[in-house]
Amino acid sequence: MISEEVIQKIKEQNDIVDIISESVQLKRAGRNFTGLCPFHHEKTPSFSVSPDKQIYKCFGCGEAGNVITFIMKTKNISFVETLKYLAERANIDVNFGDKTKVENNKHKKIYKINVDAARYYFACLQNDKKVIEYFIGRGIKNSTIRRFGLGYAPKGWSNITNYLKKKGYSELDLLNAGLITKGKNNSYYDRFRERVMFPVFDYKGRVIGFGGRVLDDSKPKYLNSPETEVFKKGTNLYGLNFANRDLKDRTLIIVEGYMDCISLHQYGITNVVASLGTALTSQQAKLLKRYADRVIISYDSDSAGKNATIRGLDILRKEGFDLKVLSVPQGKDPDEFVRNNGKDAFLQLIDKAMPFIDYRIERAKEGLNLKNGEMLAAYIKKVCNIVSELDPITMDVYIKKVSEETGVNEQAIYDSLSNKNQRNVKNSQNMYSESAFRQKLYLEPGFIKAERNLLKTMLQSIDAYRYVKENIEEEELILDSHKKIFNLIIETKNNKTENDEIYIEARCNDIESSKEWTKIVQSSLVDSDNYKELINDYMREIKKYKLEESKKEVMNKIKLCEEKGLFEESLQLVKQFQEIEEDIMKITNNERR
Ligand code: GTP
Ligand code: MN
Repeated sequence: MISEEVIQKIKEQNDIVDIISESVQLKRAGRNFTGLCPFHHEKTPSFSVSPDKQIYKCFGCGEAGNVITFIMKTKNISFVETLKYLAERANIDVNFGDKTKVENNKHKKIYKINVDAARYYFACLQNDKKVIEYFIGRGIKNSTIRRFGLGYAPKGWSNITNYLKKKGYSELDLLNAGLITKGKNNSYYDRFRERVMFPVFDYKGRVIGFGGRVLDDSKPKYLNSPETEVFKKGTNLYGLNFANRDLKDRTLIIVEGYMDCISLHQYGITNVVASLGTALTSQQAKLLKRYADRVIISYDSDSAGKNATIRGLDILRKEGFDLKVLSVPQGKDPDEFVRNNGKDAFLQLIDKAMPFIDYRIERAKEGLNLKNGEMLAAYIKKVCNIVSELDPITMDVYIKKVSEETGVNEQAIYDSLSNKNQRNVKNSQNMYSESAFRQKLYLEPGFIKAERNLLKTMLQSIDAYRYVKENIEEEELILDSHKKIFNLIIETKNNKTENDEIYIEARCNDIESSKEWTKIVQSSLVDSDNYKELINDYMREIKKYKLEESKKEVMNKIKLCEEKGLFEESLQLVKQFQEIEEDIMKITNNERR
């Protein structure tokens, strides 16, 4: 458990307006700031941030919270991870408990070995003219070798082993760092031999592993560190530590290989990271989201590369990036291209990068001969599928384009599109009314407000607290987050905590409870001397909701029984149904009293 003081400090040092401004464009409006809500799609701002209260709230979708909730939600990370992130951001030293401390020490040791290993490989490269020639021959300058810490693992089975053992590391340390491999007769040997070495940095610039490339055409071309405590596949992006330094317009280019990334950096195109030949994961996409909103994917135009592109694009699309695809002409990879044609030529490729829709339409054409009528029809169908997701104006633009390209009448494309839509007409109407609903102010079910008010009342006077505690059980509440807060309030009274609000806030460590807590603190109660009456009203509201829900449930059961012809059972249920109705009547009458 991280102490309340630390949490308070972390909150104080991370101003909510600063944090939210990193991803949302905010405008001042009186005491508050407003912008487009990052949690739902909207065209007019209903998202509001209060610097005084250090909270945010959306009047459109009902989201709310403090700076911690915001980071948990937008970065999709846990409470503790959020605290770590915010502590680091504000340069606050925090000890995150014993377990993480042991882990930290273990991790620290691996980072340290890795740095020592990287220095060793670097020195070996510097001592080997021939291998330096390899890099020079590939257009890599000495300054680039230094910047990226490139090195060489010499020939032999125990070079790094001997070197690091002399420095005081054990075999187990080396194994943990992935620098050695177990042989047949239980002996260990250097994993990397006769390979040029690429240290892999994480986004903070720590060495987490290595990639090693052969100097000739032998296989495997690249060998990477195995998974270790600090080197986890699909979590990192090569070059991000360099790219994030002077990233200006939140645009990143993703290439496939080490050499592509290094080469582009050398040519002054520094907003580049490499996925290292594997399909992107959503974890990587989330990491990117910290730094970028726009991503340009630049992969080799061979077919394997294309598959990785498609898979990567879907992942990125889900994370909400604005996507473009850059194709390097003549089957070259970005490294070869920039070396042959220079920086400006590559910048032009960036300018010409295809929006994702164009790219998909282009791909739809593959393998089809558009001079063949049937194939042309198949192409148009695919296009319809792609453009049907678009807004009407963009759709129109693309249909015109395709019509011009193929000679198929625009109207005909529209007709086939509306045929397709006709089939979904029920669906799309639902969607329409749903989105129309979403445009309105967020309306909450009454029971949620009632529960919130009930909790607020408990906090406001000790008499109200006692009354609630004598008459209401945790289970009677509906939302889990409210049950949690209910128990926390009881804890504050039992423990006689110094500051109840700070105590509870520190323990609302998931998005839902943190959001509800913000709303409870925020809300104002009906002014009334008669707290008992208020509390009873809230409880009635909650009970009524529960009864209405069980009424629905019983109704469904009745229908099922009738369909199956289970007469006896259905009579039983009808009786139950009537009882529930009576209970609801009683509550309603009580309200009127
Ligand atoms: P060069 O041939 O040196 O220009 O490297 P490249 O980066 O252009 O390589 P390529 O486009 O063939 O592959 C892209 C990336 O995929 C590499 O940077 C590696 O990270 C990875 N990769 C390529 N070959 C292998 C392999 O044999 N094994 C593993 N594990 N990864 C590989
Ligand atoms: Mn290459």
